Amino acid sequence: PRLDEMYNSFDFETVAKNVLSPVAWAYYSSGSDDEITMRENHNAFHRIWLKPRVLVNVKEVDVSTTMLGSKVDMPLYITATALAKLGHPEGEVVLTQAAAKNNIIQMIPTLASCSFDDIVDAALATQTQWLQLYVNADREVSKKFVQHAEKRGIKGLFITVDAPQLGRREKDMRQKYDQDTPDEIERNKTEVNRNEGAARAISQFIDPSLCWDDIAWFRTVTKMPIIIKGVQTADDAVLAAKAGCQGVVLSNHGGRQLDFAPSAIEILAEVMDALRAECLLDNGFEVYVDGGIRRGSDIFKAIALGATGVGIGRPALVSVSKTNERTNKRTNEQTNKQTNKQTTTKLTLSLLFIPYSMPCPLTVWKV
Ligand code: FNR
Repeated sequence: PRLDEMYNSFDFETVAKNVLSPVAWAYYSSGSDDEITMRENHNAFHRIWLKPRVLVNVKEVDVSTTMLGSKVDMPLYITATALAKLGHPEGEVVLTQAAAKNNIIQMIPTLASCSFDDIVDAALATQTQWLQLYVNADREVSKKFVQHAEKRGIKGLFITVDAPQLGRREKDMRQKYDQDTPDEIERNKTEVNRNEGAARAISQFIDPSLCWDDIAWFRTVTKMPIIIKGVQTADDAVLAAKAGCQGVVLSNHGGRQLDFAPSAIEILAEVMDALRAECLLDNGFEVYVDGGIRRGSDIFKAIALGATGVGIGRPALVSVSKTNERTNKRTNEQTNKQTNKQTTTKLTLSLLFIPYSMPCPLTVWKV
């Protein structure tokens, strides 16, 4: 289809499935086990209904907001997803450019396929970027990385806590991973098993012993706000606030980790209640959600239920998907030429489709 025939993020997903190599598609699209949580992530939004009020002046609608102190044009950020080069030869840098065009935040993954510094160098001076951290068993490696990121102007440290062991993503496991490994793996000389998919090849270094004491230690090594990514209960959100973190991301890793974990949107209201009950929201503690955000109405529901903002993973990846010569030998020249030209514009447009498909003022809906 032509770009002007693409109406929503699902359209981009359909194109991506045809354009991407089998390895890339398996890595991006897979969830763990029976993929019940992955499907539930978007389905859960279908159970939340709106309460539309009429005769409210909606001539001017401003969806800009502030996240961890940065002003952004919409309550949406591109979250961390590893290995963007599987889907586009320029990798994460394309997402940096798209984030700049839309004045939204990009979270840089530890397992980026571009180097961390290249991704930071690609950003405008005014652009906000965050860092997602997988904590290394060698804490000195993580400490150096975090302190380097802080020096480079990163505005938030998101520590991923929902992957102490890798979820079984069977679609991905059926593929062989034949790409270069990210910097993090190179630095650690971690052994790489290439026979059971991309995720298994790149995640060996993640420390399963990570616990709350480590979060306290991270607070001593950086002044960046610390946000726990992958919280799945109200109790843990409360613990994060009490541990001095500046926020949490309610997330189940896009349904790629624990199958039958609840969706973020399902638990958001009870998390907000628990934080409010202990007055833990008073110091500006922020709650983000990700997983299954596909339309403006999804963002709207999350904001109305108390989230500061939402992250998108797969919608960003599929919007810049492009035939990669190295990984996809079966694609013809024509598709290649077309996707080449349109890459960043595509993401720009797809991001715009998401928020503006629901032109309702945020103030009118109450739970
Ligand atoms: C992820 N996610 C992820 N999270 C993280 O903390 N570190 C990582 O390296 C990755 N890598 C990654 C790769 C791919 C291909 C996907 C799809 C996801 C999880 C990600 O940050 C986010 O939680 C989910 O992607 C949100 O769900 P949606 O938007 O993809 O439905």
